Amino acid sequence: MVPFTIFCGECEQCQRGNYSVCERSNRNRALADKAFGHGGAGLFGYSHLTGGYAGGQAEFVRVPFADTTHIKVPSTLTDEQVLFLGDIFPTGWQAAVQCDIQPTDTVVVWGAGPVGQFCVRSAVLLGAKQVVVIDNVPERLSMAEAGGAIAINFDNESVLSRLKDLTNGKGPEKCIDAVGLEAHATRSLDSMYDRVKQAMMLESDRAHVLREMIYVCRPAGVLSIPGVYGGLVDKIPVGALMNKGLTVRTGQTHVNRWTDDLLRRIEEGQIDPSFVITHTVGLDQGPEMYKTFRDKQDGCVKVILKP
Ligand SMILES: NC(=O)c1ccc[n+]([C@@H]2O[C@H](COP(=O)([O-])OP(=O)(O)OC[C@H]3O[C@@H](n4cnc5c(N)ncnc54)[C@H](O)[C@@H]3O)[C@@H](O)[C@H]2O)c1
Repeated sequence: MVPFTIFCGECEQCQRGNYSVCERSNRNRALADKAFGHGGAGLFGYSHLTGGYAGGQAEFVRVPFADTTHIKVPSTLTDEQVLFLGDIFPTGWQAAVQCDIQPTDTVVVWGAGPVGQFCVRSAVLLGAKQVVVIDNVPERLSMAEAGGAIAINFDNESVLSRLKDLTNGKGPEKCIDAVGLEAHATRSLDSMYDRVKQAMMLESDRAHVLREMIYVCRPAGVLSIPGVYGGLVDKIPVGALMNKGLTVRTGQTHVNRWTDDLLRRIEEGQIDPSFVITHTVGLDQGPEMYKTFRDKQDGCVKVILKP
């Protein structure tokens, strides 16, 4: 199994297990250093800032540092059970681990896409008191409910008042952003503001979820952000973030830091990651399925392509 992070295993960051900020695998590092101050690792199928490597949805993939990055999987497990160890399962897991979940915690996950689904299952496995998921796609909410979450459809009810009800007015201790830069919102002034600024090229990302998390999170709580942001956002309530004493944890996933443990949990039957697969098609149907996924048609949550 090949992780989406490309890393050398030898540099200072890799030695510390910080694989997604490997100092050697990003062949466009100078560009990334300029944009971010310090660039991160090379990633398959991401952007030029992460090395411009082609994605893995292909008949063949060239894998740099292959001696270091591959994860050996036992033949007793199916491809479908182990495939998501390369990205979304450890991503959901790292997001939950970064929350330092306690048995008394309410964990709220924004976004019930593939990553959000694994955040929910991971928070349940890590023993949260209650796990809540927010989205507006009914079949995604149902899938998360099957994994143990309480669902909030932001089209039909107020996220703020429902979270208040669920936490006796105190707010959730732990908040996970599994949406990232393309957040949608209904009836929200700040999301209209983002859309206008984006259209005028004055802002790159839409930060509605980040703002909502800062607002609802219980003081001294944790915001964990696996959702990807690319550039600059506006109107982040830093005053609330600071005065509430919130901790922010984020990052691309250090995939191999987690995979031994997660592989063991799959083998022990604690979780079967294939629950998230809704469609299996050949590679030639890829373009069509990308549209289906983008438009959230046909109950599509996760597609696997079989070359
Ligand atoms: N950190 C990492 O290493 C890593 C790895 C993989 C993916 N990601 C990122 O994680 C994020 C989620 O990935 P995905 O594949 O699940 O994406 P996705 O687009 O399938 O899911 C996002 C979900 O968020 C929902 N959403 C939109 N606006 C919302 C709002 N205001 N409140 C609640 N939900 C809202 C959408 O309806 C959708 O179901 C993306 O940003 C992706 O790039 C990060």
